[in-house]
Amino acid sequence: NWSMDDFIDQQIQKIRDTVGDKKVLLGLSGGVDSSVVGVLLHKAIGTQLTSIFVDHGLLRKNEADQVMDSLEGKFGLNIIKVDAQKRFLDKLAGVTDPEKKRKIIGNEFIQVFNDEAQKLDGIDFLAQGTLYTDVIESGTSTAQTIKSHHNVGGLPKDMHFKLIEPLRTLFKDETRELGEKLGMPHELVWRQPFPGPGLGIRVIGEVTEEKLQIVRDSDWILRDEIAKNGLDEKIWQYFTVLPGIRSVGVMGDGRTYDYTIGIRAVTSIDGMTADFAKIPWDVLQKISVRIVNEVDHVNRVVYDITSKPPATIEWE
Ligand code: XMP
Repeated sequence: NWSMDDFIDQQIQKIRDTVGDKKVLLGLSGGVDSSVVGVLLHKAIGTQLTSIFVDHGLLRKNEADQVMDSLEGKFGLNIIKVDAQKRFLDKLAGVTDPEKKRKIIGNEFIQVFNDEAQKLDGIDFLAQGTLYTDVIESGTSTAQTIKSHHNVGGLPKDMHFKLIEPLRTLFKDETRELGEKLGMPHELVWRQPFPGPGLGIRVIGEVTEEKLQIVRDSDWILRDEIAKNGLDEKIWQYFTVLPGIRSVGVMGDGRTYDYTIGIRAVTSIDGMTADFAKIPWDVLQKISVRIVNEVDHVNRVVYDITSKPPATIEWE
């Protein structure tokens, strides 16, 4: 539509006027907003943009590769990918409290980002995927937490970045429309909301590599079946959680004592309230069978049938 095309032209002109021949830094999270900012900025200023993508090892299966294939491979962005899985796992060892985990992940994210940013010379601007909703919200909601990851407030004072926030006047749906206009892949633009702390808050209690693997593999199966059954755009968020309890099962002739996987799927407008999604029984059955068969150390699958309130969407 005309207004979005206008918006793109105006923003590109504005970015060029602001940046001149200077350099811009962007923190990519793998989410929609920072990715759209990346593609827009690249269109406006090309190689004057450098992006840092911190892979904290808490992303979903294939997500990091998908971001790299698309943004670097297809769109040609210059991306410094930092594989920081070990740093995050070390920091999270022994920690079970959800808020402590959030804090550790958020702080570590800023640290890793800063460490990389310090290595770069002559950066004047920091780009952020701030949306209009972020501007008007007071900043107390949990959904804000991710924003602090890329917030200039978390960066050393001597860096003196000026901010560029080209999505400041857009809502989420407009950001998605912009992404599509820019030719970004459908699955990236329509990605479901994903919390900054990622799978770190979907492994309940202590985060270990083994547990991350279980939650990642089961989540992959869930997403695959949801997509195959055409439910992906009908459900606001859908994911698996690993509560950490084990229970008795039977496989072949043997007794098993393995983990339970929880399926969480909700419909919602804005994440503030939510209803549990009524996924058809046969789809749930398929998901359950596949998770138990394909994921090691899982012998039971349960479906979360609470709405928000009283439950929250995430289990932590
Ligand atoms: P809850 O669990 O509070 O989630 O019902 C509401 C929405 O917020 C997301 N969420 C987070 N997003 N950092 C984020 O960036 C967080 O720490 C966080 N915790 C929850 C959640 O996925 C849902 O979309």
